[in-house]
Amino acid sequence: MADDDLCCFNKDSFLGKAPKKSPLLLRMAVVVLLMACSLYISSVCLKQVGIVSVNSPGIFKVVERQCPVPNIEPWEIPYVHYPKPTMYSRAECECNPVRYFAILSMQRSGSGWFETLLNNHTNVSSNGEIFSVKIRRRNVSTIVETLDRVYNLDWLSSASKNECTAAVGFKWMLNQGVMQHPDEVVEYFRTRGVSAIFLFRRNLLRRMISVLANEYDRGAKLLNGTHKSHVHSPHEAEILARYKPLINTTLLIHNLKQVENTTAQALEYFKSTRHMILYYEDIAKNRTKLYEVLDFLKVPQRELKSRQVKIHKGSLSNHVENWEEVQAALQGTQYKAFLDIDY
Ligand SMILES: *[C@@H]1O[C@H](CO)[C@@H](O)[C@H](O)[C@H]1NC(C)=O
Ligand SMILES: *[C@@H]1O[C@H](CO)[C@@H](O)[C@H](O)[C@H]1NC(C)=O
Ligand SMILES: *[C@@H]1O[C@H](CO)[C@@H](O)[C@H](O)[C@H]1NC(C)=O
Ligand SMILES: *[C@@H]1O[C@H](CO)[C@@H](O)[C@H](O)[C@H]1NC(C)=O
Ligand SMILES: *[C@@H]1O[C@H](CO)[C@@H](O)[C@H](O)[C@H]1NC(C)=O
Ligand SMILES: *[C@@H]1O[C@H](CO)[C@@H](O)[C@H](O)[C@H]1NC(C)=O
Ligand SMILES: *[C@@H]1O[C@H](CO)[C@@H](O)[C@H](O)[C@H]1NC(C)=O
Repeated sequence: MADDDLCCFNKDSFLGKAPKKSPLLLRMAVVVLLMACSLYISSVCLKQVGIVSVNSPGIFKVVERQCPVPNIEPWEIPYVHYPKPTMYSRAECECNPVRYFAILSMQRSGSGWFETLLNNHTNVSSNGEIFSVKIRRRNVSTIVETLDRVYNLDWLSSASKNECTAAVGFKWMLNQGVMQHPDEVVEYFRTRGVSAIFLFRRNLLRRMISVLANEYDRGAKLLNGTHKSHVHSPHEAEILARYKPLINTTLLIHNLKQVENTTAQALEYFKSTRHMILYYEDIAKNRTKLYEVLDFLKVPQRELKSRQVKIHKGSLSNHVENWEEVQAALQGTQYKAFLDIDY
């Protein structure tokens, strides 16, 4: 990541073309580049579009790509990027600034739905739960490697848009490496200018029911023998909602506290990261909230649509096997409000 601090120094094109130069030459190169950097600091470095090419030994040329300086506030500069994907050209959009984001959330908090809404925007590409694959979160190196590919627009998924993507990201569950390596992730976000979108659920009892039902369906496969976490028709939603989980009330309060703690801890870790906090219920009640997200990502406001249908609708009493017991367990606690109808 040190190469970012040198601003004009493009690791790939530089190392790719001059791998066998003597260490002295390399050191000279860095000095020359740093000088070039300071000369071009306003026009080239701040836009991070400088390319350094090595034509012949000892001769270094700074080639400036003619991207107009975007009309942005100085504080925004670290958050604006001009990725150069290795697999394709950004063509007519190569000078469109790109913002990096990550949706930090927990399972069954509406992030799948939220992501389909974001991906309905022509200029937003959110690549799914990429760290659900264990090998990618095995250690900090594999995490960084994965993040680099996503943010360089080299991650090809069904969410990939055309070369005019203006905001690129993915959804990251807190238990998929974030809380295990908070310092490194925060540092990556800081040096690479990644913004975080926290998406939580207000009603953690509803979330728990969704978690239990989803776990059950993993084995039961209620929809024609396939396990589905999200559905696209009221009929399918109704079938999945027929299963009523039994909640272990001995552990209930403890589990709710644990989720609250994880949420609070994550916000503490990322307090210095540029971020926004969203609640599933607020978006479900008022879609205008999404415009705040589009503003945060600096993409044009647009109405966003998702085909997903909510699974557990209406009063919670219809969705829990031992409702009376659950009611008794939460009455008189700080979690009493979770019993009431709300999204
Ligand atoms: C957004 O959703 C609408 C309605 O489902 C669809 O027609 C449109 O193609 C979607 N746009 C994108 C970019 O996915
Ligand atoms: C959004 O994408 C369209 C083409 O799909 C492009 O013309 C436009 O410049 C992009 N907007 C931004 C803000 O990059
Ligand atoms: C991280 O995991 C990868 C893949 O398993 C492995 O090749 C690499 O050596 C590991 N790196 C570190 C620093 O542990
Ligand atoms: C199951 O499959 C049948 C036949 O393909 C289809 O008519 C029905 O809608 C499916 N049911 C669900 C819940 O997906
Ligand atoms: C609830 O969890 C506790 C602690 O793990 C366990 O001892 C108890 O048997 C569980 N109760 C039910 C009804 O499963
Ligand atoms: C969460 O729990 C851990 C371990 O009990 C504790 O050290 C930490 O301070 C708690 N965090 C918050 C924000 O409450
Ligand atoms: C919906 O949210 C927007 C912006 O967040 C706010 O201005 C508006 O008053 C809200 N509408 C309702 C009906 O709450």
